[in-house]
Amino acid sequence: PVDGYTLSSGDTIPSVGLGTWRASGEDVGGAVKAALSAGYRHIDCAWEYGNEEAIGNAIQQSGVRREDLWLTSKLWNASHSPEDVEPALDETLTRLGTSYLDMYLIHWPVAILKEPYLTSGRFVVDKPLSDDMFPTWKKLEELVDKGKIKNVGVCNFTIWRFEQLMKNPLKYRPLVNQVELSYWNPQPNLLAWAKSRKVLLEASSPLGGMRKVKETLELPVFTEVAKLVNITPAQAVLSWLRQRGVVVLPKSTHPDRIKENIQAVTLPQELFEKIERAAVSHPPKRMINPSGKWGFNFDIFGLT
Ligand code: A2P
Repeated sequence: PVDGYTLSSGDTIPSVGLGTWRASGEDVGGAVKAALSAGYRHIDCAWEYGNEEAIGNAIQQSGVRREDLWLTSKLWNASHSPEDVEPALDETLTRLGTSYLDMYLIHWPVAILKEPYLTSGRFVVDKPLSDDMFPTWKKLEELVDKGKIKNVGVCNFTIWRFEQLMKNPLKYRPLVNQVELSYWNPQPNLLAWAKSRKVLLEASSPLGGMRKVKETLELPVFTEVAKLVNITPAQAVLSWLRQRGVVVLPKSTHPDRIKENIQAVTLPQELFEKIERAAVSHPPKRMINPSGKWGFNFDIFGLT
């Protein structure tokens, strides 16, 4: 698998990043330090994960130079109003202790009203800013021009939503789409589309996420391939995904697993295809879809 992908901006994004979702403020500092000493140079963050300050402190303490690091963060749903974008980014920058991000992503293709979200945590859809993301996007473009963001992208966008955004006269187009990609939801059509549109996919929950990781790593296809090439099942999963041409963002707070997850091999073609066949030959199952939890009367992934 490749070590990095060169984006059309000219920047190279490392093909493995540390996932930090559901890593508590106490745990995440140790995870970041373990990752940086294991050779990770890419950390995937988000305003909403609530742990960016701990991540920033750990980076500072590690002594790794900022220019050697790839930092991604995400604009939360309640900050899509153009006047809220820069303050949200500034909060992230302050917490991470940096003056710029290598990548800033729209976290979800849904905007919600700041109130009642900030006082009660309740989600009320901001329909105009959800139906048309261009006003939010234009603000992001301004922040690129200001030097606070190097690259811009999106998360959890279906092809339809992405193409809707692309219909606008964009100054900078979204270069990545961070989506759920795993054995359970391998999304071959989205991957083929992304390649044809020169959009890089980033795999969140590549091991299947918290609830499925054990089951994933016990699947015969991964234990067999792991044995044949003398790697662990987790390395088989992550090698397969990287060989598909995507970035992987495995989350762990255990130093031994963090080390394990950055080591990938190039699988022989027949083993790569064996995993690909197994992954696409069962009905796909999306692991993460907060539409219901957020009280929406529509499916975020419904418009494909
Ligand atoms: P932990 O943080 O306790 O190590 P995903 O990245 O697909 O969301 O998966 C994350 C889940 O998988 C977390 O619960 C994490 O637990 C666990 N995990 C991450 N890497 C490994 C690994 N190499 N072996 C076993 N479990 C892992």
